[in-house]
Amino acid sequence: MIIIKLGGSVITDKSQYRKFNRERVSDLCRQIKDSGLDVLVVHGAGSFGHVLAKQYGLQNGFSSEGQIMAAAQVQYDTRDLSQMVVREMIDAGIPAVSVAPGSCFVMDGGRLMANDTEAIERLCRLGIMPVTFGDVVTDRSKGFGICSGDQLMEVLADLFDVKKAIFVSDIDGLYTADPKKDKKARLLGCVDLETLQKIKSESSVDDVTGGVVSKMEAMLRMSTEDRDCILVNGTVDGRLGALLRGETVTCTIARGGMK
Ligand code: IPE
Repeated sequence: MIIIKLGGSVITDKSQYRKFNRERVSDLCRQIKDSGLDVLVVHGAGSFGHVLAKQYGLQNGFSSEGQIMAAAQVQYDTRDLSQMVVREMIDAGIPAVSVAPGSCFVMDGGRLMANDTEAIERLCRLGIMPVTFGDVVTDRSKGFGICSGDQLMEVLADLFDVKKAIFVSDIDGLYTADPKKDKKARLLGCVDLETLQKIKSESSVDDVTGGVVSKMEAMLRMSTEDRDCILVNGTVDGRLGALLRGETVTCTIARGGMK
């Protein structure tokens, strides 16, 4: 099985609250369908989650009553987004159903406790793809917290026999430096722990780079001897499909785990 996370930066316009990129999602769903592969999709929240979550500090857990309505609104918005993603999947011929992570999992201190996975496993066995997504989820010690699509990818990788984990984003991969600031920045085709540590020590405190580096760390954690984790640009026409067909495409592969 292959697991794919469609990042919020690809499926939504992150600068505009609740702006869905329908055409792009439709196109990505067709590329997934055309691959004919056994795939499980997770998606991010993009501007359906991050805008309000940031405004109300939801990532830090419960601290004031004022957050409660925001926590409910975010879950409403992410469900809306997920329904739109699943609509595109069904239109592309993929039998899928949206499964809110907070309806089957809880967190504890920010850690996702995916204890009861029976429903998800049963859906898969039926041939229906359970689509989970980044969302607000209740937390045993913090009241609630943010469960990211990346955390769900880690859970799914443990649950199923996953040969490949693909993170679809709006960048080509991991660079040696911030390509917007440094002309000599080079895209890395392959990253192991040693390369990542070098980049981390050399990179300035910058949102874009920091974001990619921590994503790459999560990807390295998920990679094993026989499982590659790949970061690929989903805003480039046909690139995900080419990757799924086994063609060589511009991307960054995290390889070798955290040891
Ligand atoms: C974030 O999930 C969830 C919320 C902010 C509610 P992700 O971290 O997986 O979303 P993206 O891919 O960054 O948008």
